[in-house]
Amino acid sequence: MYASFKSIGSYVPQGTLTNKDLEKMVDTSDEWITKRTGIKERRIARDDEAASDLGVKAAKIAIKRAGITSNQVDMVICATLSPDYLTMPSTAAMISKKLGIKNVMAFDISAACTGFIYLVSIAKVFIESGNFKNILIVGAEKLSSIVDYTDRGTCILFGDGAGAAIISSTDNIDEAIIDVHASADGNFGDLLITPGCGSKNPIREENVKEKLQYMKMAGNEVFKVAVKTLTNDVIDILKKNNISANEVDIFIPHQANYRIIEAVRMKLNFPLEKTAFTIAKYGNTSSASIPMAMNDMYEEGKIKKGDLMLLDAFGGGFTWGSALIKFAGN
Ligand code: UT7
Repeated sequence: MYASFKSIGSYVPQGTLTNKDLEKMVDTSDEWITKRTGIKERRIARDDEAASDLGVKAAKIAIKRAGITSNQVDMVICATLSPDYLTMPSTAAMISKKLGIKNVMAFDISAACTGFIYLVSIAKVFIESGNFKNILIVGAEKLSSIVDYTDRGTCILFGDGAGAAIISSTDNIDEAIIDVHASADGNFGDLLITPGCGSKNPIREENVKEKLQYMKMAGNEVFKVAVKTLTNDVIDILKKNNISANEVDIFIPHQANYRIIEAVRMKLNFPLEKTAFTIAKYGNTSSASIPMAMNDMYEEGKIKKGDLMLLDAFGGGFTWGSALIKFAGN
């Protein structure tokens, strides 16, 4: 039994936060943000929308495009660093409830911006066990809920959104997900962190006053490790599978910074027109960024059945990973 990547869907919240808006909030400029990150605007969810609400909308599209119904989904996994609730219930359980999916396993994973690669890796193994047929994976983020809008080092980067996919069983090896690499190194944990509101620094008045509930990032240090790690990882996965960069039809990197994507793309000598760039309109949406970018390319007709996709991501933890996937949808 093999695992195939059957479908993609995404949801983009209506609200926008432009660089011009941010100029009024912190000491920054449209010119600086554009030049250093490639971001022009990001989407912001409504106050009454939680991560699961965004995830459900993306999931409905992915389920429909896979040609199945919700009751054929036999597992739901969600990657998020902005869950509906701090500890429980899981965002995956909320997504299941809203989709009317009952009596199947539903759980969240925590792998920050590498979440979607981890999801593919986990779903692939469960499918290959032979016990599951259709696994719904969702990257859903309401990052605006954990961003400090007085910190110019982070608030210019992040946005909200969700992406979802169905990973299904197949006996056709030509449709199979080829390989997934995923890894982590907790020694870098402090460089990208939400220090408060967990068991280490619990929700107490003094911790909230110090804004420990928000994301903190040593941007430049993260940047350097990200470029090096991603470049090596992508070269590695291609080499291991005896695939050359020019056999890849579409490169879908995590959208953290235009310059990181460009550095990896140029190292691979990969064509610009085959590379996904959604950073300008969505910013960094963490676990949702790869499926959101994939969905846009799919809707633009740039991803077709049988196309070979190369994915890569890097994020807090540190976590990182890459995947070589044949698109098995229609
Ligand atoms: O998705 C998870 C992984 N995340 C990432 O991969 C993000 C990686 N990091 C980055 O994308 C970049 O490091 C940033 C976009 C966050 C920052 O860009 P940078 O080129 O690394 O800038 P920097 O932090 O080295 O700062 C350069 C200067 C500093 O001023 P001085 O010390 O040179 O006077 C900063 O204070 O830019 C200043 N600065 C800003 N200026 C205007 C920092 N943020 C801003 C800002 N507007 N928003």
